[in-house]
Amino acid sequence: MTTKQDVVDHILADVTETPCDKAAAFAPANIALCKYWGKRDTELNLPITSSLSLSLGTLGSRCRLSFAHTADEIILNGKPLAADTPFAQRASHYLNLFRKITGRYYRIDTTNTIPTAAGFASSASGFAALVLALNQLHGWNLPQQKCSILARLGSGSACRSLWQGFVEWHAGHDPAGNDSIAEPLEDAWPELRLGLLVVDAGRKPLSSRDAMQRTVETSSLYKAWPEKVATDIHLLKKAIAAHDFQLLGTVAESNALTMHATMIAANPPILYWQSDSIRTIHQVQQCRAEGIPVYITMDAGPNPKLLFQTQDIPRLQRHFPSLQIADAYP
Ligand code: PMV
Repeated sequence: MTTKQDVVDHILADVTETPCDKAAAFAPANIALCKYWGKRDTELNLPITSSLSLSLGTLGSRCRLSFAHTADEIILNGKPLAADTPFAQRASHYLNLFRKITGRYYRIDTTNTIPTAAGFASSASGFAALVLALNQLHGWNLPQQKCSILARLGSGSACRSLWQGFVEWHAGHDPAGNDSIAEPLEDAWPELRLGLLVVDAGRKPLSSRDAMQRTVETSSLYKAWPEKVATDIHLLKKAIAAHDFQLLGTVAESNALTMHATMIAANPPILYWQSDSIRTIHQVQQCRAEGIPVYITMDAGPNPKLLFQTQDIPRLQRHFPSLQIADAYP
């Protein structure tokens, strides 16, 4: 079995290093329009299916990185973290993969522009920004595709956070994941927007890692998921090429609801939605009935994300005054 360490060793085997004193990198958060749900390899975060996302422009993570002397120093949103906090442990554990080769400790100073405290996952942009900063600090000159593989080892969806716009993560076939890489789509859609709504700012009860594993192992509906994804990715690409918003929104919404259906059918069932999440689904349906083109997507948590176009922002804000709108193209 290939380990994370094997992958890092392999990628860094032939690079020459020209380190500098400090590095800074930004990576956007991303929201999947066709979700990644289910791993074929839990060590390497290799997915069962491909997925397709939209990045969130200026909402994401900025990582400032330099070398430290005797231990890693982790600062999150301006606050130094104790080494035994879950965030610091996850970061140091990830850095251990590189330490075997570099022999260095690091000072990571991460600021999230995506509201982490409001319940939005920042691990994707966090790992992507950290990999970009490591690449810069050591002067490895790794291409984006290699950075995508390294980010995937931290968190699956992080491999899509290396680019703005639409990004497809190819599931790949290689057991070592050399072909499980994300890639940006050429098409741009400047009027397309994602908006975030906060239903619950607390920590989610079950991690996406555990939830997807339980779904794969116990949900009788999961066997329908790979075929659904293949159809949806095809339709989403068609919608993107034609700027067909109704098709894009219909497919993205159906994909998210189907993902939640697979987990509701798991044993024990996984239900991330709260009553306000369901209320938002109904509000979105009501908006459409009133002629406002808007669709909803949700990840492994209760907080809805809305999909719409710039010309509909004023009407939407009347229905959702707290909507935080991400710039798709900063
Ligand atoms: O990358 P992870 O392990 O946090 O999983 C992400 C899972 C979803 O957000 C639900 C779907 C996705 O494709 O981002």
